[in-house]
Amino acid sequence: MVDPRTVVLPNGAAVPALGQGTWGMGEDPGRRAAEVSALRAGLDLGMTLVDTAEMYGDGAAEEVVAEAVAGRRDDVFLVSKVLPSHADARGVAQACRGSLRRLRTDRIDLYLLHWRGSVPLEETVEAFESLVREGAIRSWGVSNLDVDDLADLPPETRPQTDQVLYNLSRRGPEYGLLPRCRELSIPVMAYSPVEQGRLLGHTALREVAAAHGATPAQIALAWVLRHEDVIAIPKASSRAHIEENRAAWEMDLSAEDLAALDRAFPPPEGKRPLEML
Ligand SMILES: NC(=O)c1ccc[n+]([C@@H]2O[C@H](COP(=O)([O-])OP(=O)(O)OC[C@H]3O[C@@H](n4cnc5c(N)ncnc54)[C@H](OP(=O)(O)O)[C@@H]3O)[C@@H](O)[C@H]2O)c1
Repeated sequence: MVDPRTVVLPNGAAVPALGQGTWGMGEDPGRRAAEVSALRAGLDLGMTLVDTAEMYGDGAAEEVVAEAVAGRRDDVFLVSKVLPSHADARGVAQACRGSLRRLRTDRIDLYLLHWRGSVPLEETVEAFESLVREGAIRSWGVSNLDVDDLADLPPETRPQTDQVLYNLSRRGPEYGLLPRCRELSIPVMAYSPVEQGRLLGHTALREVAAAHGATPAQIALAWVLRHEDVIAIPKASSRAHIEENRAAWEMDLSAEDLAALDRAFPPPEGKRPLEML
């Protein structure tokens, strides 16, 4: 198998450009075994970055992740998130303890603020840095922060990533946010890279896919992954979807493909507010 692309975070950690999302997992006991086995299949195929959050299924997604990574924790790069309502000094420490317990691990590799709430960013970052000192998290980052929010982070601090909504139908970040993150050398983590499935019936996407003998999901992922400093974290709960997504990691789109996709999904011509799901 060709060595797939990795992305190097500001702290030097190299992570796979294609990871796995978990939103919605753990909510239905009847689907749990399939979710665990899909995540494991993804790990076997090198998609070893797993994104979860205390919010997902009220902690149940983290428990699914724990089951999937059991026995192979050191091979996995775990990302979890704290809710803005827990983002004050005490709340962060407590939320992190809860996530560690559910994940059945002693450290989270990358801990994100899920979105900006009313707690000053400075307080949250201080709490993150104290968790780094204690060894409970290896690094911290942010999610759903737009250019102006990034400017409000305490000076001399740098998040390891900004996890944002980015896909063919949500190209707003290309104007403003992606260039700014590039200037700061902060890789972006693209969530909902297939727009939760809503993109997949789009004619232009289907046409490009047909020309490649690929599926629309693969083209949507290859399109996000065309940036060297963007990580994509699709959520998939079947082995078939996992294998399909894994193959997209090595797919190259031609200039003609990109032009056809630009016509169907025009790039932004000015700043748009950052969208969220
Ligand atoms: N930071 C944030 O605020 C935020 C917000 C949203 C999401 N996220 C993270 O990003 C992850 C991904 O986003 P998402 O779950 O919202 O949406 P997504 O990854 O764009 O879409 C997930 C949906 O696409 C389907 N799918 C996956 N691969 C497919 C394939 N090859 N062919 C056809 N369908 C496929 C999945 O079906 P199956 O499950 O049936 O395989 C699922 O229904 C989340 O799980 C979460 O970890 C973060």
